[in-house]
Amino acid sequence: MASPASFLPLLLLLLAAAAHCSPLPQRCPQADRQALLRVKQALGNPATLKTWSPASADCCTWDHLRCDEAGRVNNVFIDGADDVHGQIPSALAGLTALMSLSLFRLPGLQGSIPACLTSLSKLEFLTISHTNVSGPIPESLARLHSLDSVDLSNNKLTGSIPNSFADLPSLRSLDLRRNQLTGPIPASLVQGQFMSLVLSYNQLTGPIPRDDAQDEINTVDLSHNQLSGDASFLFSEARPIGKVDLSYNNLDFDLSKLKFPKELTYLDLSHNRIRGTVPRSLEALSTLQTLDLSYNCLCGPLPKLHGVMRHGCKPYEHNLCHRGAPLESSCHQL
Ligand SMILES: *[C@@H]1O[C@H](CO)[C@@H](O)[C@H](O)[C@H]1NC(C)=O
Repeated sequence: MASPASFLPLLLLLLAAAAHCSPLPQRCPQADRQALLRVKQALGNPATLKTWSPASADCCTWDHLRCDEAGRVNNVFIDGADDVHGQIPSALAGLTALMSLSLFRLPGLQGSIPACLTSLSKLEFLTISHTNVSGPIPESLARLHSLDSVDLSNNKLTGSIPNSFADLPSLRSLDLRRNQLTGPIPASLVQGQFMSLVLSYNQLTGPIPRDDAQDEINTVDLSHNQLSGDASFLFSEARPIGKVDLSYNNLDFDLSKLKFPKELTYLDLSHNRIRGTVPRSLEALSTLQTLDLSYNCLCGPLPKLHGVMRHGCKPYEHNLCHRGAPLESSCHQL
């Protein structure tokens, strides 16, 4: 019978064979590296990306990016660089493991958002913000079903918000503020699953699409547009909502009977055409920090304990009451 020791060389051989069959995944595969080098070239070889060098084999050591555990580039962030010039490189589409792409504060970035970004099927976080990127938001972006957060704020985007955005199953935060977007807000975009919806400082028109879901919403900022009609459905005792800014629109509805959710911390409805009286449910809002109902058509009297002590009379100023006691004077009498 053979001694146990004689099995040892065989065992080592087997182990070596096993290791050979399942090699560690290669860090920074050639395709990722080539894509990055093409991105750098398309952005005018900026000094900001000097570590992105053909002389360096392992791109996971380069600045402005991160790799996942498998050694694939999953995060690219290029920000605050004046020396970046050109369009959003289509070579970015080659980084197929990308989960997060951030192009932030790049004044030299221009042109439109390329439709080829839709090949980034794992993308969860997309930021293109504070750039000179213009043109429409590609409808096809909504094919990126993993998208969780989209920030395209502070650009020069035009056209309307694609209807397809309402179908994104995981989208929880959308920030399109300070562009030149026109047209209506797509139906069912203001959905309960939203943690944050910021569409302020555009030229959006039409009504706020009605949504009666009762899920929690953190922030709705639709201010500085030309939205009209009713927004009262946003408020319900049963739906927690934290910050609502609908100021500087053409909203026209009766505020009198609204039941504000007690979670409300920020309410700005100023500069609209809102009618009725200040609802009594305001009395119970102990966590409300910001209140502005000025420049509307509200009438007095104000509910007792409504928070004049905390907020003063300023939130009620310049209301053009059409029927009943003027709001402002009833405030000053308290
Ligand atoms: C757009 O380009 C102009 C002129 O180059 C620049 O002054 C401005 O800061 C850029 N805008 C943004 C948001 O980067």
